[in-house]
Amino acid sequence: MPFPKEFVWGAATASYQIEGAAREDGRGECIWTRFSHTPGKILNGDTGDVACDHYHRYRDDVKLMQALGLGAYRFSTSWARVIPAGVGASNPLGLDFYDNLVDALLEAGIRPFLTLYHWDLPQALQDRGGWANPDIVHWFADYADLMTRRLGDRVKDWTTFNEPWVVAFTGHYEGRHAPGIQHLPTALMAAHHVLLSHGAAVPVIRQNVPDASVGITLDLHYRQPASDKPEDVEAFRRVDSYTFRWYLDPIFKGAYPDNLLDWLHQNAPGVGEIQAAAVPIDFLGVNYYMRWLIVHDPKAKPLQGRGYPTPGSELTTMGWEVYPDGLRQVLMRLHQEYQPPSLYITENGSAFEDPEPVNGVVEDPRRTAYLKAHLKAVEAAIDAGVPVKGYFTWSLMDNFEWAFGYSQRFGIIHVSYQTQERTWKRTAHEYKRIIQANAVRD
Ligand code: FCB
Repeated sequence: MPFPKEFVWGAATASYQIEGAAREDGRGECIWTRFSHTPGKILNGDTGDVACDHYHRYRDDVKLMQALGLGAYRFSTSWARVIPAGVGASNPLGLDFYDNLVDALLEAGIRPFLTLYHWDLPQALQDRGGWANPDIVHWFADYADLMTRRLGDRVKDWTTFNEPWVVAFTGHYEGRHAPGIQHLPTALMAAHHVLLSHGAAVPVIRQNVPDASVGITLDLHYRQPASDKPEDVEAFRRVDSYTFRWYLDPIFKGAYPDNLLDWLHQNAPGVGEIQAAAVPIDFLGVNYYMRWLIVHDPKAKPLQGRGYPTPGSELTTMGWEVYPDGLRQVLMRLHQEYQPPSLYITENGSAFEDPEPVNGVVEDPRRTAYLKAHLKAVEAAIDAGVPVKGYFTWSLMDNFEWAFGYSQRFGIIHVSYQTQERTWKRTAHEYKRIIQANAVRD
């Protein structure tokens, strides 16, 4: 079965993970620059200072995308590169970079999908409280205004946030991500302000780009209770509300999950109305990687649940369970419970221990199998009536994997961090074939 004729085939990246040029051309410091230079935060002391040097190599990278046959490219813009202090004066050189990137993409026939926030907050705003400060709602709207005015004549696909759950909770509760805070009330306020910022930015985008398609990307993995025991089922229900529903319910229903309302108000009394997050959107972006089994554990944070992969299942080097049918089930559930007008898989991919390139190719059979199996799951969801419009593989190339530094390789293109040489993995060749055929064939 082929995919729908107009199905969008893409690959995704994010600014801090690939650009490098951290101190060039007037870019301001971002929270990931600060965090990665704080000893002990990133595996092997890696930083995104150079990353894939995409800032200087974007033209060649666009050529690679063209050679792959990509119809679309999902990237994010660095707020600190375009507004170094987060508010106020914009940086012409930073804006020129994205302007040139967009032009290069369009010349190559590739549709730009732009994400405004993929985790790299200007440090200057963090110094003023960051996502926990209610003022960020208009700071973010102003940033959205700047970007849409500058690029909206050519960029039509806009995403406000990437994985706001991770922004709020991994960054402000678990502290494994920048800004490295471990304080639940702060995390809950951050989550709230991200939602309000989304609600404030969508109309700004529409105003400046009347023909825009606007959405948000959430991390939506497949979770299920580890057993039928009532306490595991109850733990699952709470974890599901805390993760899966925490953003979906406000965005599509204008309310936080009902079973956690008391808990929310006890922990963050400052959290108010969330109705303003429920502005109509054109698409929901789905990032899907894995299955988690949820078990009751009174000692675990947060919300008395703990997750683990199914014992004996195939794991990636991230320790994530490979479970393609979970993607189909997540898509079915979204369609049934929230009815987004359309969906894109904005990220899906795998890290494995790749061999070094031999004769100009990296053999990565497990990644190819992961790709094909997940695409079949997407196909099954489309057949069942879910309006999935496109798929973006994570990632175009190996890059800086946050707290794991350069140790996790998610790319379909291999990057040598010594020479910056790009080498196709076998999966890239396979993906090209799939795109050409608009179908997955064995
Ligand atoms: C997602 C992130 C993306 C990348 C993948 C592996 O959570 O959005 O930047 O790190 O995981």
